[in-house]
Amino acid sequence: MNAYSETVFNAKTKIYTGVSSIKNLGPVLQEIGAHRILMVTDQGIKHSGILKNVLGEIPENIEVLIYDEVKPNPDVASIDETANNYRKKEISALVAVGGGSVIDSAKALAIVLTNESSISAYYGFDQYTEKALPLIAIPTTVGTGSESGNAAVITDETDGLKTKKLVFGEDLFPRVAILDASLLRAMPSGLIASTGMDALTHAIEGYVSIWSSHFTDALNLHAVRVIGKSLLPAIAHSENTEAMHGMLLASSITGLGMANSGLGMVHGISHAIGAQYDAPHGIVNAILLPYLLEYNWIANPEKFKEIAEALRVNIEGLSVEEAAKAAVAYVKNLTKEAGIPEKLSAIGISKEHIDVLVDIAFHDAQYMVPNPRKMSRQDIYNILDQSI
Ligand SMILES: [Fe+2]
Repeated sequence: MNAYSETVFNAKTKIYTGVSSIKNLGPVLQEIGAHRILMVTDQGIKHSGILKNVLGEIPENIEVLIYDEVKPNPDVASIDETANNYRKKEISALVAVGGGSVIDSAKALAIVLTNESSISAYYGFDQYTEKALPLIAIPTTVGTGSESGNAAVITDETDGLKTKKLVFGEDLFPRVAILDASLLRAMPSGLIASTGMDALTHAIEGYVSIWSSHFTDALNLHAVRVIGKSLLPAIAHSENTEAMHGMLLASSITGLGMANSGLGMVHGISHAIGAQYDAPHGIVNAILLPYLLEYNWIANPEKFKEIAEALRVNIEGLSVEEAAKAAVAYVKNLTKEAGIPEKLSAIGISKEHIDVLVDIAFHDAQYMVPNPRKMSRQDIYNILDQSI
């Protein structure tokens, strides 16, 4: 692929931003003509008080049903079972309040509630026939980006092997996203660190992806810039509204970027690990990111130099190659400052299943193809061997 290759840039979601932008939820639901909505969330959000704040914005003439049992790494059984429970309830819209697992679950439900089959029938691009229910996404982490993209990640178990599958579609772009940092004032610093590093991973992997374009570069590189200056202050204090607002917006900006640029093998390997170990996506990505940057930078030193500039690394007097390496070193150190462990073994990943992980990641074309440097099985093995 070169700068003149044919691409398409796809964006659908109307995005409200700013402190108190949650007040738009009521008017948006009225505009859609919703009479009964399904609120999709998890126990953490329920107990944090965020759900109560969101519920306070729903007009009285709209009935609210609540599904608050979303677990990390949602699987086929949980989606199908939930859809069966709500299929006859005549739901007119979904409202997702949560992180990536919640928003992806809501996307999957939006399809399965209007189409008859299991979510596993809709892997790939636009495989469903009936229009999905409208979805409003209210992210409560600073990393998923799912609120502005057209994909849902679902854990599938076939023949005893767990893998992550992707469902893509025009209807998976949420109708509306609301990015209100005032909802995140009590967010734990560890969650800001892990989801924020996930956003940085999206931005960097998207920027150096083989499928990137001028459109996606504009989004992904700007996200690197905003995350670079906002991440540590946000981790330091979740009531730093400027930093949290920056993180929330950057996460969505690169969410739209990555929906069009694709990602790379941090996500390829992390999805293999996430499915096998039910491990938290953000932390796995954050641990893997420096190892993959070290591997990938030679594919595009110029872009890595631009990443260094976006991260405000002093590259004066350095060659392009030295500046690219400075970007890698900076991210490695940022991971440490964010309190992320250096090795996957710190979160319970062992070398016992390394061959299975290599096999799954090697066959994941969605991430293998756009990764800027080709990877063999041995290359993936080496990355896992070093990072575990
Ligand atoms: Fe991610």
